[in-house]
Amino acid sequence: MSLVVLSTQAELEIFRTGLRGPLQFVPTMGGLHEGHGQLIRRAAQQGPVLVSVFVNPLQFGPTEDFDRYPRALEADRVLAQGSGANALWAPSVDTVYPGGLNSVVSRSAPAALQSHLCGASRPGHFDGVVTVVARLLQLVKPSCLWLGEKDWQQLVILRRLVADLDLNLAVQGVPTLREADGLALSSRNQYLSAADRERAAALPAALRRADQNDPKDSVRRSLSDAGLEVEYVERVDPLSLQPCGSETAISLLAAAVRCGTTRLIDHVFLMTRQPLVAIDGPAGAGKSTVTRAFAERLGLVYLDTGAMYRSVTWLVQQNGVDPLDATSIEALLNALDLQLRSLPGGGQQVLVNGQDVSDAIRSPEVTASVSAVAAHRCVRQALTAQQKAMGAKGGLVAEGRDIGTAVFPDADLKVFLTATVGERARRRALDLEQRGFPVPERSELEAQIAERDHLDSTREEAPLVQAEDAVELVTDGMSIAAVVDALVTEFRSRVAEEAWPTPAG
Ligand code: PAF
Repeated sequence: MSLVVLSTQAELEIFRTGLRGPLQFVPTMGGLHEGHGQLIRRAAQQGPVLVSVFVNPLQFGPTEDFDRYPRALEADRVLAQGSGANALWAPSVDTVYPGGLNSVVSRSAPAALQSHLCGASRPGHFDGVVTVVARLLQLVKPSCLWLGEKDWQQLVILRRLVADLDLNLAVQGVPTLREADGLALSSRNQYLSAADRERAAALPAALRRADQNDPKDSVRRSLSDAGLEVEYVERVDPLSLQPCGSETAISLLAAAVRCGTTRLIDHVFLMTRQPLVAIDGPAGAGKSTVTRAFAERLGLVYLDTGAMYRSVTWLVQQNGVDPLDATSIEALLNALDLQLRSLPGGGQQVLVNGQDVSDAIRSPEVTASVSAVAAHRCVRQALTAQQKAMGAKGGLVAEGRDIGTAVFPDADLKVFLTATVGERARRRALDLEQRGFPVPERSELEAQIAERDHLDSTREEAPLVQAEDAVELVTDGMSIAAVVDALVTEFRSRVAEEAWPTPAG
């Protein structure tokens, strides 16, 4: 496949008009290496790829390496073409900044996101990055922006930019590519002398071997011992980029060093467990469907806690026990063996004392009593304990009413998924109809849903409340695919591909 080389805005426009498929954009400063090659290859699976090469003067400090930054357009062209790009766009400063460098309307990266890591040691750098990327996006108008996870702070800041600009644009991070000795690929590796190149491998090695109890100091010591000059070693929350400790289950341990005259950065994700996601929300918000699809997309185990409460309710009804009789229910709980099994294709099988109740627990009778049964303290305690045990190692997304508040308050991502009562009644009617149950009047369904919301949010034990740090997603008017995409976006802004790769397929 041939690649076109573009420079002016007019050439870019012509390229855009001939596009077949959603445009994938890989912005670079040139000096392309296999790390960029990997970004381009991944992007090319989704649509035509445009790679920009623009060494942005605004993101270099006065004493930094703007003048010596690698510029090798022909080599960039060869690598971009070999990796499957359709176009290489190398605009001039005038195209990107038509008023000239001295009259650019600059943007600022959020202060909180640049108060640590490279933001602290390179004042103004991320302001220059957001200014240029906003401008490039305006010119390129892509469907997806591809960025390396190597520059995690840049990725976090640019995700924020894209969300603020409301561009209807996906942002995709791609894991860092490394040399055989662990050194992360970077355009700046070209500056390293042979001796420095050898020493540089101490950076990834130190991060990889960080002492879990004392990560920052242990890395600092290893780096200094290897003769690298430490600029920073910091442990931060991957989303807020604020310093954190081991209470944060997935954290970013990042370092910048000088190796000779070359500045190198690298990081690892420290994980005390695999990722945990909590999805809460009222009945009928579509949680089960989207959570199942989300779990499958990200290779997480799906835990439907509603099915567990329904199972107990079913058992209560089978035994002719009054749903309000806590003492008799407690006796049933003592003899309960409740098992959830994941089925291929994302389904779930529910076994109560060895009996498959997967369908039976979805009956209108169970629906009518589940709130009353789930309100008993003994029921909540028994099932919460089982859920916590199931999620201890992480690697799981749980869906329910109190996951982010009572079950997994330390979840990496908490979502409160909701929809208006009218929308939920509409979905419930459709679901009953499809499963062959009688469909009540819409007004009756709405009243049932409102009543259930009231019971769930006013019960004493673990009421339905939105966790303070949950992301609220109101799904009226959204397709299932759009909701799942929104969940994946939230997940990926907290959990890197490097930490939890998306399964193939
Ligand atoms: O990461 C880079 O190469 C640059 O910071 C970017 C995103 C192309 C903006 O100039």
